[in-house]
Amino acid sequence: MNKKIILLGHYGVGKSSLVRRFVHSQFSEEYITTIGVKIDKKTIQVGDTSLTLLIWDIAGENGQQKIPQSYRLGAHGAIYVFDLSRPATYANLEKEILALQELIPGIPIQILANKLDLSSEKQIAEVMEAIRPYQAKATSAKTGEHVDDAFELLARKILE
Ligand code: GTP
Ligand code: MG
Repeated sequence: MNKKIILLGHYGVGKSSLVRRFVHSQFSEEYITTIGVKIDKKTIQVGDTSLTLLIWDIAGENGQQKIPQSYRLGAHGAIYVFDLSRPATYANLEKEILALQELIPGIPIQILANKLDLSSEKQIAEVMEAIRPYQAKATSAKTGEHVDDAFELLARKILE
């Protein structure tokens, strides 16, 4: 079974790095911004179901690039990523989630608080408390912590 999932969030939060970690078990410190969209895939096993995730890694808006809404259409699930160390990347979380839900009603969404390795315990606890209703998962594309779990959580929500 194929499922299209989209990665959303501000530029530089680690969307491409999370995909790279998940699909290729690699990480790079180098920042090469995504132009438009890059599609990757990985098959995972969820219970008895073999699920091929078609992962659309969509560029974050940075003022120069305008990202077509059409990339989002037909998605079965979404991962919304923010950077724990950059408050500006979660300031509009609620608004952006609502916009996505309006575009694709009922879409399962997993929110990821990325760059866990750069933040203090206290900082992480504060942010996670502030956004508790969203059931975000803290990840690090650098160390790989919780990355597989995060994709699996979304896959499970899609299959529910
Ligand atoms: P756009 O494509 O421009 O929207 O950015 P993006 O969200 O795809 O970010 P990308 O994955 O390119 O990562 C941006 C920078 O953050 C790179 O230098 C990565 O090495 C770094 N980075 C990503 N994830 C992590 C993480 O979990 N920890 C640390 N320390 N650095 C990270
Ligand atoms: Mg990218």
